[in-house]
Amino acid sequence: MEIVKSKEQMKAISRGFKKEGYRIGFVPTMGYLHEGHLSLIRLAKCKSDRTVVSIFVNPLQFGPNEDFQAYPRDLERDIPLLEKEGVDILFVPEVEDIYPADYQTYVEVTHLSSGLCGAFRSGHFKGVATILLKLFNIVKPDLAVFGEKDYQQIRVVEQMVKDLDLDMEILRHPIVREEDGLAMSSRNTYLSSEERRSALSLYQALKFVERLILGGERDLTKIRELTKEYIESFPHTKVQYVEIVHPHTLQSVEEIRGPVLVALAVFVGKTRLIDNKIIDL
Ligand code: PAF
Repeated sequence: MEIVKSKEQMKAISRGFKKEGYRIGFVPTMGYLHEGHLSLIRLAKCKSDRTVVSIFVNPLQFGPNEDFQAYPRDLERDIPLLEKEGVDILFVPEVEDIYPADYQTYVEVTHLSSGLCGAFRSGHFKGVATILLKLFNIVKPDLAVFGEKDYQQIRVVEQMVKDLDLDMEILRHPIVREEDGLAMSSRNTYLSSEERRSALSLYQALKFVERLILGGERDLTKIRELTKEYIESFPHTKVQYVEIVHPHTLQSVEEIRGPVLVALAVFVGKTRLIDNKIIDL
């Protein structure tokens, strides 16, 4: 695996791959890799000829009171994991190379970024869309793979690719869970063992909502309230939101008639976790 730091070198490598007629599969990450990331890489690998993974903790997508500094980083641990998966290129740009001092251009996917996490993390999806467009321009992938745990992020990137006529495909990978159901996330490492037990409340709550809806409950206010109560019956939990939205527009539904996305954000101690599930009638 070649490790590339400079964006000019990354562009040159991608031009070379294109010249050879190779399809480039890309998995952008912020590192501290887990099985969820590795599943995205396996999907990228089987759909392309050359696989590029980036590791870049993007300052632009963290709010002033969020965990940019504390976000777990361990390149020495990540590199062998990527080598084992047969990744061709690891792109690890420096912040100054991506956002030089005179940087001033941003991308905003307006409607899709406004609700759910966007309502609580101002500027987060602008940061995500901006870094992804930049990485796509540098890596020039034919396809990029994203995990469905960050469901709103996938919809934002799908819309950006469509709106800006990017000549590439976005592939979704289902949420990868621990054996007991907790969605994998680099942030799970923040949890104490007691909090780790309470973190299971998200997955259990999604199954709880599914039972309610499939059992015929249609009162959206009641479903949201019961779910919040259910989650907060676990110690150290504080619900940020429970939303029931249309899976494509991410707008709140007024009644449940077709498939809906149930999305949760919950603080477990100081750690903010998200999870979601599509419930199909
Ligand atoms: O999901 C992530 O890890 C990040 O939001 C991404 C897509 C790498 C952009 O920084």
